Amino acid sequence: MCNVNIALLGFGTVGKGVFETLQTYKQRIERSIDADINVSTIVIQHPEKHRDYIPRTHITSDINAILENPDIDIVFEAIVGKEPAFTYTKQCIQKGKSVITANKEMFAHHGKTLKSLADEHHVALKYDATTAGGIPIIQTIQELLNMNSIQKVEAILNGTSNYILTSMRDKGISFDAALEEAQQLGYAEADPTNDIGGYDAFFKIMILSDLIYGDQPNWENVEIKGIADTSGHTAKKRGDKHEKIKQIATLYRSNKGIHAHVRPESIHNNHPLYSIEGVENAVHVQTDIIGGLTLTGPGAGAFPTASAMIEDLCIVMKEKRHHQLLQI
Ligand code: HSE
Repeated sequence: MCNVNIALLGFGTVGKGVFETLQTYKQRIERSIDADINVSTIVIQHPEKHRDYIPRTHITSDINAILENPDIDIVFEAIVGKEPAFTYTKQCIQKGKSVITANKEMFAHHGKTLKSLADEHHVALKYDATTAGGIPIIQTIQELLNMNSIQKVEAILNGTSNYILTSMRDKGISFDAALEEAQQLGYAEADPTNDIGGYDAFFKIMILSDLIYGDQPNWENVEIKGIADTSGHTAKKRGDKHEKIKQIATLYRSNKGIHAHVRPESIHNNHPLYSIEGVENAVHVQTDIIGGLTLTGPGAGAFPTASAMIEDLCIVMKEKRHHQLLQI
């Protein structure tokens, strides 16, 4: 078996989830990719906080520890926010390293640029973990819906918002109490502004737009409304009418271009997103050949996101092998 040397960028909820999952399922993953895994380097802002926790891994704040190490093959990028994530990802690709990212904000802004750069440098760039947590929506669209033309997407893409709306309605707790629970459970970001303001779902639907339509709508024309104004009272009242308030991200194309909006909507009980509760996410795609298709699963949290990144790792390794076979 060969060795695959891995580096992690960022060691928050997601980075730690990836590290732990790689340890817990080491044998299964190694068997699947036919290679020994070694997490050789972690780059984080405050290395001193983690050195005792991981004795055999080089922990540093210096990105050059990855860039100047030719033995590192694959980098897991789990930083929050655009920078330094974009700069580091670009540099890793330029150094010939494959990158697997979970960073939705960075990828919504720079996905297109990074995809071209990765093609230019013949490395893999995977991003299934950016959108809908553990649901394999990116790979499904990329690999399994090539002949179907997707006309419309309606999705619940923010686990925190869905968790808050569900908890206010079913448990009768306040917005703040529900948000605090979502933070404790590792669903909400450390700064939850993007979660409850609709921006997190917006970034994710923009990533889907790039993937499905090869472009994004003009961001200025996209309505983005969060759930902060939705009270527990409103959430309950709708429930009595067989409706539920859900934070819905919508994407479609018309002859005027690509359109999207993110906002709380009242969903009737015959809608495929009606039964999606708590931290669950769901993506309902309307295609010309299949008709409607809905994928559901956990949309946030350390392990669903880690799962998406490690599934990407397996695909990168398969592609590498396939590429090597073709060169023989
Ligand atoms: N804060 C995000 C959410 C995490 O609640 O959906 C997953 O991207």
